[in-house]
Amino acid sequence: MLQVNTKQKTGKSKMKKNKDKEFDKYELYINSVQSPETDVKFLRRVYKELRDKKPETMREDFCGTFALSCEWVKLKKDHKAIGVDLDEEPISYGKEHYFSQLTDEQKGRVEILTANVLDPKLPKADIVQAQNFSYFIFKKREELRDYYKNALKGLKSDGIFVVDCFGGSQCFEPNEEETEHKGYSYFWDQDSFDPVTNEAQFYIHFKRKGEKKREKVFSYDWRMWSIPEVREIMLEAGFKDTAVYWEGTDEDGEGDGEFTRVTKGEDCESWVAYIVGLK
Ligand SMILES: C[S@@+](CC[C@H](N)C(=O)[O-])C[C@H]1O[C@@H](n2cnc3c(N)ncnc32)[C@H](O)[C@@H]1O
Repeated sequence: MLQVNTKQKTGKSKMKKNKDKEFDKYELYINSVQSPETDVKFLRRVYKELRDKKPETMREDFCGTFALSCEWVKLKKDHKAIGVDLDEEPISYGKEHYFSQLTDEQKGRVEILTANVLDPKLPKADIVQAQNFSYFIFKKREELRDYYKNALKGLKSDGIFVVDCFGGSQCFEPNEEETEHKGYSYFWDQDSFDPVTNEAQFYIHFKRKGEKKREKVFSYDWRMWSIPEVREIMLEAGFKDTAVYWEGTDEDGEGDGEFTRVTKGEDCESWVAYIVGLK
């Protein structure tokens, strides 16, 4: 049985010793749940696979610290990225920590907008994508459909819209999972699940070695959307077709990080998948 943790990873940490540095929630976040270098390669591969040509522009909705946008322009010289987020705090962090590391030429290919993903005037892209389940903030079907409609509007011809999704039997009850990293632990805490509304409350906690646990560093008040619901709502929003990419399994029954297009999934305690809407 495939069992994956929700976007947790065990990558090598490049962090300094805790006693030498301030608590940096975004550094621990990216180190625990994001894999921007892998993600941008995946997005490029999926576009090529589905469209038989190469993408150039990628729009990162709910971009937060826009780490993926920075990786996208590093990946190919003709890549351009647009990041969209409402919150200045993660955007400022991204400017200071990731954007500042780009060459001047690469910087010229990144555009960051402090804006709502529902804004109908957002720039168009070959790929519009939303990572880390950010669209789970839309709790009503009409709200999610409006967002998907706007994503579709933001696609160039032959564009694709990519979102991730997670689920599994584990998500139907409160649970907390600890993942140990070098120098700290990451906790993914599902505090509640309401079967009547499918709403669930999640938190991320961190505990650095030798320090007390820092509770609720990030919190998420979400509706758990299922893959068939997402596909149906994409079609209702006007997408011509949808595709699902499901993670393969390694020898230990864990997710192997390789996502391939499927028509059937597997019954799992915990899974992450990608859903693609085709314009
Ligand atoms: C779960 S975080 C995801 C950050 C990043 N995409 C990632 O993969 O880790 C959600 C982000 O969405 C932003 N956000 C929430 N509602 C938004 C909206 N309507 N328009 C734009 N950004 C929004 C928040 O400010 C936050 O940075």
